[in-house]
Amino acid sequence: MKIIELNNKEEIAKYVSKKVISKVKNNKKAVIGFATGTSPLLTYKEIIKDHQKNHTSWKDITTFNLDEYISLPKDHKQSYNYFMHHNLFDYLDLKQENINIPLGVNNYQEFANKYDQKIIDAGGIDLQILGLGINGHIGFNEPPCDFESKTRVVNLVKSTIKANSRFFKNINEVPKQAVSMGIKSIINAKKIILIAFGFNKAKAIKELVEGKISINWPCTVLRNHKDFTLVIDKEAKSLLDQKE
Ligand code: GLP
Repeated sequence: MKIIELNNKEEIAKYVSKKVISKVKNNKKAVIGFATGTSPLLTYKEIIKDHQKNHTSWKDITTFNLDEYISLPKDHKQSYNYFMHHNLFDYLDLKQENINIPLGVNNYQEFANKYDQKIIDAGGIDLQILGLGINGHIGFNEPPCDFESKTRVVNLVKSTIKANSRFFKNINEVPKQAVSMGIKSIINAKKIILIAFGFNKAKAIKELVEGKISINWPCTVLRNHKDFTLVIDKEAKSLLDQKE
């Protein structure tokens, strides 16, 4: 595990976007795994800026997203489909057929069952971007999680529903279930970069870096990955014993 500490979320976005862009430039058919949430948002803005300024081509790139809420149609403002299109995909020259996001409505179960095979058929994920839940979840793999899990329907825990209610009118509107790539699906990525900033991520970061590898802190599984980089700020790092 490599830990990169930067001063703020802007620096984090610059650092992570450079990694993504260089992957896309060096492998025109790369497969990139994307996450939603506020953590990667500025990174996506940097990727868009690069595309507009330097014309980095995404035309043969394939993307896979981590998760989607069940019951929200694609055009719902809080769906992850909407999030990805409005914060990244619509600004790049990606082909629609190369964009993969778990389905949250209609035959989502069947779609979920085929998702991991689709990732394998695409050649596997070359670079996976991750955020981090305050309870240590990655994607929507809530604790206690199964380290062997594949893409499937998951139940959201109360703390996640509460944390994510900030994006909805009220807590009752937050879906109670989601489709999420499994821990195994995530860990199979060739390279993983996790973004975390702010004090509210400090406890999960402590568990991730110094805690015991445990299904009660899903993120700890990442310590076993051979190419895993944690990109964090001082606040997210603040509970670590080893500060330097
Ligand atoms: C959600 C998503 C995760 C995301 C996490 C953190 O629950 N399913 O993929 O990493 O929240 O979100 P944020 O980056 O907004 O803190």
